[in-house]
Amino acid sequence: MAPKLLASTFLVTCFLSCAVAQPVPARKKPNILFVLMDDMGWGDVGFRDSQFHTPTIDGMYSQGVRFNNSYTPPNCGPSRAALLSGVYPWRMGLQGNAINSGSSAAIPLGRTILPQKLKDDLGYQTHLVGKWHQGFCKTEQTPTERGFDSFFGFYLSKQDPFSHLSKKDAYDFRSDHEVNRSVAGQYSTYLFSERTRQLVREYKASLASNADTKPFFIMLSYSALHAPNQVPQHYIDQHCADVSDHNRQIKCGMMAAVDEGLKNITDDLKAHGLMDDLLVVFTSDDGGDHEEGSSNWPLRGNKRTLWEGGIRVTTFMYS
Ligand SMILES: *[C@@H]1O[C@H](CO)[C@@H](O)[C@H](O)[C@H]1NC(C)=O
Ligand SMILES: *[C@@H]1O[C@H](CO)[C@@H](O)[C@H](O)[C@H]1NC(C)=O
Ligand SMILES: *[C@@H]1O[C@H](CO)[C@@H](O)[C@H](O)[C@H]1NC(C)=O
Repeated sequence: MAPKLLASTFLVTCFLSCAVAQPVPARKKPNILFVLMDDMGWGDVGFRDSQFHTPTIDGMYSQGVRFNNSYTPPNCGPSRAALLSGVYPWRMGLQGNAINSGSSAAIPLGRTILPQKLKDDLGYQTHLVGKWHQGFCKTEQTPTERGFDSFFGFYLSKQDPFSHLSKKDAYDFRSDHEVNRSVAGQYSTYLFSERTRQLVREYKASLASNADTKPFFIMLSYSALHAPNQVPQHYIDQHCADVSDHNRQIKCGMMAAVDEGLKNITDDLKAHGLMDDLLVVFTSDDGGDHEEGSSNWPLRGNKRTLWEGGIRVTTFMYS
């Protein structure tokens, strides 16, 4: 177990310390788009299951640096805590999937986390788009107090991707600290992709008037592929008609929507001439849930288990 988890924290640790050890001139710092999938199974992507339609992800994967032995804890909360802090979740009391509604748990406030490091030490502007799931009981635990300049997304582990209702029908969607009700009814994958495009546009506009504009770190933390399984029907009709299992068909549609969002974002980056200054990191917080239609084949087991299927995830960097 330990060596495998060590491998999982390598990415984060290197991310923090390699960058700190060798400072580079301000203009050379790459913009970073960190795509964090939710419960994406090993087999839930086009290059492993040809019934899935993910040409954008497949393209970046085939040209990127592939981390074929990338391991995470088996649940969302602990995995995200480890990713953000570079610390084993066991050391912070976050090894259970603890941070749910009514919980006061959070990454201890004394721990410096990734966006803080990037913002305070490396001069990045930092944005969280999508799921947080790292504490919300006190204001100090929320994203904009933990190193993110902006937040557009939700606090809890999962929600209905259209209504944004969590457990007990609590509405869970915010712009920074403000509850944002105007997005109710709009599909999460659209919202998060469009918000990312907006941040890129704002960056480009700022760069035009100020060459010293801070590079961006955008953590694009999609709620897909976490249950509940829902997606606008046209993704299924267009790309997933041949998938026979009902749940898997919806997962296929959810992945097609994510891929389209990433195509939109990378097309914009290309159009703005920002592709040469870009580092894309793509990973998932844990393995897929096959009861919900994900597949970890040929890996054994599921999310929430310590089999490979629960803890080994698709990870690559593309630049
Ligand atoms: C990556 O891991 C999978 C699953 O163990 C294996 O089938 C595949 O050959 C590996 N790929 C490389 C390039 O090592
Ligand atoms: C809610 O989000 C929408 C979409 O990004 C945005 O236009 C609007 O300003 C936000 N509302 C609040 C109250 O922040
Ligand atoms: C991608 O952009 C197109 C055209 O603007 C839009 O219709 C589509 O909804 C976008 N897809 C996502 C997932 O945001």
